[in-house]
Amino acid sequence: MKRIVCLFLVCVTMLSPLNGQFFMSSEERDSINTLNQQNHASMMKQLEITALRPGRSPNPDVPNHANYDELLANPCAELPDLLTTKKGKEISTAESWWKERRPELVEDFEREVYGRLPNNVPEVKWNIEVTDREFVRRIPIVVKKLVGKVDNSAFPSIEVNINMMLVVPTNVKGPVPVLMMFGRPSFPAPAQPSRKEMESLNKSFKEMMIQYDPAMKTLFEKYPAYSPITRLPGPNFFAPPPEGDLPTTEQLLAAGWGYATIEPASIQADNSAGLTSGIIGLVNKGQERKPEVWGALRAWAWGAARGLDYLETDTLVDANKVGIEGVSRYGKAALVTLALESRFAVGLIGSSGKGGATLHRRVFGEAVENLTGAGASHWMAGNYLKYGASASSFGSKTACDLPVDSHGLIALCAPRPTFISYGIPEKGDALWLDQKGSFMATVAAGVVYKLLGAKDLGLSNDYLKEIMPPYNTDMLDGHLAWRQHDGGHTDWPNIKHFIPWANQWLGYEKQVIR
Ligand code: GCU
Repeated sequence: MKRIVCLFLVCVTMLSPLNGQFFMSSEERDSINTLNQQNHASMMKQLEITALRPGRSPNPDVPNHANYDELLANPCAELPDLLTTKKGKEISTAESWWKERRPELVEDFEREVYGRLPNNVPEVKWNIEVTDREFVRRIPIVVKKLVGKVDNSAFPSIEVNINMMLVVPTNVKGPVPVLMMFGRPSFPAPAQPSRKEMESLNKSFKEMMIQYDPAMKTLFEKYPAYSPITRLPGPNFFAPPPEGDLPTTEQLLAAGWGYATIEPASIQADNSAGLTSGIIGLVNKGQERKPEVWGALRAWAWGAARGLDYLETDTLVDANKVGIEGVSRYGKAALVTLALESRFAVGLIGSSGKGGATLHRRVFGEAVENLTGAGASHWMAGNYLKYGASASSFGSKTACDLPVDSHGLIALCAPRPTFISYGIPEKGDALWLDQKGSFMATVAAGVVYKLLGAKDLGLSNDYLKEIMPPYNTDMLDGHLAWRQHDGGHTDWPNIKHFIPWANQWLGYEKQVIR
């Protein structure tokens, strides 16, 4: 029974945020799947790969199921040494990290794992479409609906408009820190007409209806007190707060933070079919991508950095204190953003799994072979497929052949505060994500934090020796932080830990305006 529940939870984890694919017609889904397969096949051809090992299944009852045996989980000798250059030189100063080793890691991650930014990415022009003054609980906020229009003059048939919503509390002294979150932008509590304004709205509406259909006059006369247009339930200032944690956004506002939600799909679609559209398609003029250029994760990170360009121009925002957050595939994107876009000051990396904080080399839960399949490879650089190849012009490769691993990606964030968050399998943050592999990577990344004079988890950096602590253990004393909460596939239960931790490192203290 337990097994069935876990399997169910894995499937939910696997399927839930498929970015609207649930809401597609079956024809649309079929056509996306066919294009996914075509793009994947053509990337294999470009790389001269004739066969890939199949992805592992989360179903323990099928032959090719994922490994959950710790004894089989670490097949490669060692992780690449973060403090030794490719030529074997030892890195012992911050300066040589910045000048020699870090650029090597960036180069390898871009070329082999996430793909490079092309040279000719066009400009983005931000436009504030709506500015609304609202209340969330008793907090007055200003909300800006923003659209970042990408210059498509070089290829007008592809349009890219990045959607972002900025929400800033106005009861505190600004400029405020902002957490940018990958998600769906929406107005928290749209301001509405007053009762008096509602009356004139209803009056005009009734007149218009009667003009359109005179029979409406009798109807309205029959119900003289009826108002066809009603107000949405507004904020109830006297409602007691819900039991448990407030929503993430409300916790941020209450702490004097702003937040921005940025919509990944408005930057780049979440499937390979979309690789000939979105920002990747626009730059490529609708052609397929080459093996070393950006995949969706790198493109989402690029989009986040464009969002930050806007935030730098907004006087309500302290652009030196902008963080990045995401969960699951967007947790991967958040880590890629923090690692490769260095103006982001802090990161909350939620349940990111393989392709995120978890070691590629670990064979536990989701495997590299799952990310090299047609359903997920658009997240990565085409070159990443090589590490799932069983037959090709270069023979076969596995994750052990990768020049880098996720401890290096976390290290690229150093010394900036980086919070690695997970939940527990019993609540739906499936073992598929390999929490332990992420803990190992976080432990191993610590050497770089230390080298740069920042604090890591406060353990040794021996990733094979250090033991992952039980859930709900705070490892929050360092710039590098770890916490596995007792909830599911979300970082929500960790927000109340993230905020004070981030305040401490960013030096932010909320000052309420009286
Ligand atoms: C699947 C996938 C993960 C991904 C997750 C998500 O579980 O295997 O790599 O993070 O979906 O929902 O984003």
